[in-house]
Amino acid sequence: MASTTDQQEKGTTNKVTLESTAKQLPTPILSSSPGLTMYQLFDGKGENEGGSSTFTYLISCDTSKRAILIDPVLEQVERDSTLINTLGLSLKYCLNTHCHADHVTGSGQLKQIFSECQSCISQASGAKADIYFEPNQKFEWAPGHVLNILATPGHTSGCVCFYDSQLGVFTGDTLMIGGCGRTDFQEGDADQLYDSVYERLFVLPDDTIVYPAHDYKGNTSSTIGVEKTTNPRLSKTKSDFVKIMENLNLSYPGKIDIAVPANMKCGVF
Ligand SMILES: [Fe+2]
Repeated sequence: MASTTDQQEKGTTNKVTLESTAKQLPTPILSSSPGLTMYQLFDGKGENEGGSSTFTYLISCDTSKRAILIDPVLEQVERDSTLINTLGLSLKYCLNTHCHADHVTGSGQLKQIFSECQSCISQASGAKADIYFEPNQKFEWAPGHVLNILATPGHTSGCVCFYDSQLGVFTGDTLMIGGCGRTDFQEGDADQLYDSVYERLFVLPDDTIVYPAHDYKGNTSSTIGVEKTTNPRLSKTKSDFVKIMENLNLSYPGKIDIAVPANMKCGVF
């Protein structure tokens, strides 16, 4: 399931921890798309970390030095801002794949540090933001660099994925490596999640790299082709998938009562 081979074929990613960011700035790159640089950052369980096992992606345009963060985490704002400043980047947008229940977005604090930064989330999320994404929107975040907004409701009704044909697809909690986000709270709907994955993600080229919002087993990326054929939940029929999701018997998310109200403001306060 790990994706070393995929990364070697299409470029490499780099997992930067708080420790490596603070002490060895910066760890170099990793771009699978001409003119772009990308870091894959991780919120682990260390001191001063949030323990959410969340991937945050810093992507920058090599020419304009504009940068975006996908799914920033509150506890990692210092890590992210240090890296951005060290690289001489201008943070323009914090993109959130959805209103997270397991951690608070770093969008608000990052907006306070970087005055030009705007928070973004889907209109369907119902959350406040500076910019609202619509299904099928093409979001040009730097000259010549566009993310396609794929509406993928199911984990929440406002989930979106971000697709760059050369870089890959940032799947949030819609599609994880060998899994998917739970569908038993917020506006979760297993039937809808299955359709979103099959109609929006599994139609992408098989070699498209999948960058999820979380991983709990040490994986960093996968591909659409691998997930289509081996994902233990989503390689099944829809009825089998719904049964699996109905019987996960997961515990109540520890931070949901704090995270969801905070994320509904999405950094706009
Ligand atoms: Fe989530």
